[in-house]
Amino acid sequence: MRAMLPSLMALLCVMSTYDLRAASPSSSLADVELSHESENLKRGAQFVLSMCTGCHNLTYVKYRELLRIGFNHQEVAELKGDNDINAPIFSPDIVEMTKSLFGLVPPDLSLIAKAREGKGRYIYTLLTSYHQNEDGSVDNSVFPGIRMPDVLSYSSTTDDQDRKVLEEQARDAAVFLEWTADPHANDRRTMGYYVMGYLIVFTFLLWFLKRRTWSQLEGK
Ligand code: HEC
Repeated sequence: MRAMLPSLMALLCVMSTYDLRAASPSSSLADVELSHESENLKRGAQFVLSMCTGCHNLTYVKYRELLRIGFNHQEVAELKGDNDINAPIFSPDIVEMTKSLFGLVPPDLSLIAKAREGKGRYIYTLLTSYHQNEDGSVDNSVFPGIRMPDVLSYSSTTDDQDRKVLEEQARDAAVFLEWTADPHANDRRTMGYYVMGYLIVFTFLLWFLKRRTWSQLEGK
């Protein structure tokens, strides 16, 4: 244990500085509506799998789980390529490649929405907060000095219509990453409706039983 202490301390230091760099008050995030409809989730999955998984892994999501958001087997087969359907969305090559390119391994995206204040809103705002400084350099107002490039080319897109398209893509990506961070949220919501329905029926039955019992007693 004593031998492990220095490495544990080092890990804690790295983790805390990482979070400090990423910190951003949730009040500064875009007030965007993130609807978890199947079509948004599917578009988000397609977008994330084509634009983000070149540098990020999604270790806690298996290709098979994409069937749960409305893809059919054929579509999942296209998305997974040569990978096994039960394999996680993970490529070991990313680690070495990103380390040499950026000097760090970008965070795994499966749980990132839960790890950041504002969840999907954070991701949306991050992707749409790239801008060009006067000297032509690109920065991000949510995460100044971020080492992730402007993957949507948001900072160099000036046309309003084109920007809207990019914002839609960022929104879909945020919705999908909210789903990967909590894939059972919708099931829980449905279960909540069932429980409420059950409680209402049960309350009504009890009230009815009480009325009947008292009317019998009063009749005596
Ligand atoms: C070319 C490589 C690359 C691509 C493609 C890429 N990222 Fe990143 N991403 C990075 C790097 C590098 C970091 C770490 C940034 C840092 O800590 O400075 C990062 C960090 C992040 C973070 C965490 C920011 C934080 O608060 O710590 C999120 C969220 C993220 N990326 C989302 C995405 C999404 C969504 C996509 C696809 C639209 C994407 N990334 C595509 C390289 C990439």
